[in-house]
Amino acid sequence: MIEAESAQLRMAVVGCGPIGHLHARGILESPGASLVAVCDSDPRRAHEASKALGVKTYSRFQELLRAESIDAVTIATPDDLHVDLALEAVSAGCHVFCEKPLATTRADAERMVEAASARGVRLGVDYNRRFGFGYRHARTLLDAGRVGAVTHAVIHVVDRPARPEVARVPHAILTSLITHHIDLMRFLCGEIVSVHASFGQHERGSLVRDVVLSCQIARGAVGAIVAGYRDGFVRTSERMEIEGTAGSLAVVDVTREVTVALLEPDRFETIRPNSFVEGDAFHETVRTHVRSFVASLVEGREPPVTGLDGLRGMIIAEAALESYQRGRPIEV
Ligand SMILES: NC(=O)c1ccc[n+]([C@@H]2O[C@H](COP(=O)([O-])OP(=O)(O)OC[C@H]3O[C@@H](n4cnc5c(N)ncnc54)[C@H](O)[C@@H]3O)[C@@H](O)[C@H]2O)c1
Repeated sequence: MIEAESAQLRMAVVGCGPIGHLHARGILESPGASLVAVCDSDPRRAHEASKALGVKTYSRFQELLRAESIDAVTIATPDDLHVDLALEAVSAGCHVFCEKPLATTRADAERMVEAASARGVRLGVDYNRRFGFGYRHARTLLDAGRVGAVTHAVIHVVDRPARPEVARVPHAILTSLITHHIDLMRFLCGEIVSVHASFGQHERGSLVRDVVLSCQIARGAVGAIVAGYRDGFVRTSERMEIEGTAGSLAVVDVTREVTVALLEPDRFETIRPNSFVEGDAFHETVRTHVRSFVASLVEGREPPVTGLDGLRGMIIAEAALESYQRGRPIEV
């Protein structure tokens, strides 16, 4: 059992799957918050969470909100439930940290952002890759001007196929998987201004398994996100390469290494995590993000990744689908 720190912010987690447990741990590791309760509609999951975390459990979120005085919640339920739970939390005056994708449609993401703004509470979305060693360092190197101005970038990602309930939506790869990479393109290279998607061959109405998303980026850069689902794959594998006017960067697998080369490609420097102080576990990125979200609430700042970033992800995903259907780029 983990000891909850005594602190000012009273928090709860909704959805106690693997990701909800990471949220709970992130809260327990935050000096500014205490984990008051968790909620899961599945009694087995609720029981396991109560044993592992040593906090009260509820099976219904509304009951939790009525019974406890909560300042902030994190949402780690299946994607299609984010919107209703977030709106309930916001209407109870809670700040919300929501798993990606913020919602499953642009319209729902807009409702969430508008509701949080109207109620004066913060909304964050878990684009956790921004907290991975590789992408964090890439951002620092880019900000320091090590490779000059970005001219083009490519992300290649392969993952297990989406679960059946997610895969019911044929183009789920856009919202479920590459929503992360759309965010990374924006985070590292600049705002995406237009997109054009091509899908690999697939039967009408069946899951799209391969996609290339071409992006025009503000300030004249271009990007491509190449993604696929592969049966039997055991975890997500990805790589990002960024070319600039003065050199290039390559990021391997979120938490592994960053290689920076200048205009002489044979001379490069590889930066790896310090294994004494930084784990390379992907899961750390979620916990780190939760701690950072809590710190932003305690300090009265905007969350590190905002609801608007989550909404932008949905706008770009929907534009990608439209671009495929119309066979031309769509401005976003
Ligand atoms: N950021 C990342 O890298 C990352 C990685 C994997 C998953 N995710 C996202 O995290 C979320 C959760 O993923 P997971 O793998 O833990 O899912 P999961 O399905 O294993 O767990 C979800 C839990 O929510 C519970 N639940 C369902 N409806 C509920 C309700 N109305 N009230 C309370 N609990 C309810 C389920 O019983 C289940 O225990 C999803 O949105 C997923 O897309 C993010």
